[in-house]
Amino acid sequence: MEQNVQEELWSVTIDGNEIKVKPGTTVLQAARMIGENVPPAMCYYSKLEGSGGKCRTCLVKVSQGSTKDPRPMPKLVASCRTTVMDGMVVQNTTSPEVKEARAGVVEFLLLNHPLDCPICDQAGECHLQDLGYEHGKQKTRYEFKRRTFERIDIGPYIQLHMTRCILCYRCVFTCDQITNERVHGILNRGDAAEISTYIEKAIDNDFSGNVIDVCPVGALTDKTFRFKSRVWFTKPVQASCNCGKCSGKVTLWYKGEEVIRVTARKDQWGEVESFICNTCRFERKKTSDWTIEGPTHVDNKSVISANHYELKYDQPVIPQKTSLHADHPSFKEDKKLLN
Ligand code: SF4
Ligand code: FES
Repeated sequence: MEQNVQEELWSVTIDGNEIKVKPGTTVLQAARMIGENVPPAMCYYSKLEGSGGKCRTCLVKVSQGSTKDPRPMPKLVASCRTTVMDGMVVQNTTSPEVKEARAGVVEFLLLNHPLDCPICDQAGECHLQDLGYEHGKQKTRYEFKRRTFERIDIGPYIQLHMTRCILCYRCVFTCDQITNERVHGILNRGDAAEISTYIEKAIDNDFSGNVIDVCPVGALTDKTFRFKSRVWFTKPVQASCNCGKCSGKVTLWYKGEEVIRVTARKDQWGEVESFICNTCRFERKKTSDWTIEGPTHVDNKSVISANHYELKYDQPVIPQKTSLHADHPSFKEDKKLLN
């Protein structure tokens, strides 16, 4: 006999927005489902198992633990690692304590991170840069010598600027989970920790380029794109090809007629939709290699949206009072102004 088992759902309220989610959902996932006031996440990556819990940017305040035990949690918690309880009440942007703590985390992440955004290829797409603008302070209290590293070539396509790394572990998880053998990881601990490939051994496999996409800062950069253009001068376009190794769904970044970069497509959280192979990323740089699907949607909060206009309707080049465009919404607006 078929049983109609109703799935249990728990209620969680984040910054006043209530949602019902399955047990086991984290606070960050619930916030993403609501889609508003989502905590920033520099190390959590939904496509990478085990990620999260490293950077503390996603801290939130739990002002009510659950309906059964309404006591608040004594300390701020990492929302990417905290699962919801039924009746939990969470504060993110509505808590001054969270804002202050997040500013502290940004200050901490920037202790050793150079402010070389004017020459960094990640500028405009860097999550730390965004976080710095939102929560950063103008001055640092740090007076000691900063960690510096020489740049390291990791194989023919990738360059590592360890100085910029925030030790989020995303690249390590990527190599561990989507490539056959991992040849890089984090060596040492604490202040001495660094990403290394064991004596610069090349990451040499077909999916290694994905470490560039998952890196939230400019620590892992694409050698075929380095210094070619500021990202806001490029035009991103969705394209696909019949690739035998990956989904073949990519974003092409044009400068004029030239494809200067190929990346995986990213979702609204800045995460890769599906990982792509190195052939698509580094070797298919001609428009004829691709079927063009249309312009990439760029969030208008992103600096990449500068000079990219997305309108709800086609704009007539010159508004005309007769003809095709007479019913056009913009034309009606013009008419109102003239009268
Ligand atoms: S290199 Fe980038 S992805 Fe890897 S740990 Fe450092 S910041 Fe994270
Ligand atoms: S995103 Fe939660 S600790 Fe980094």
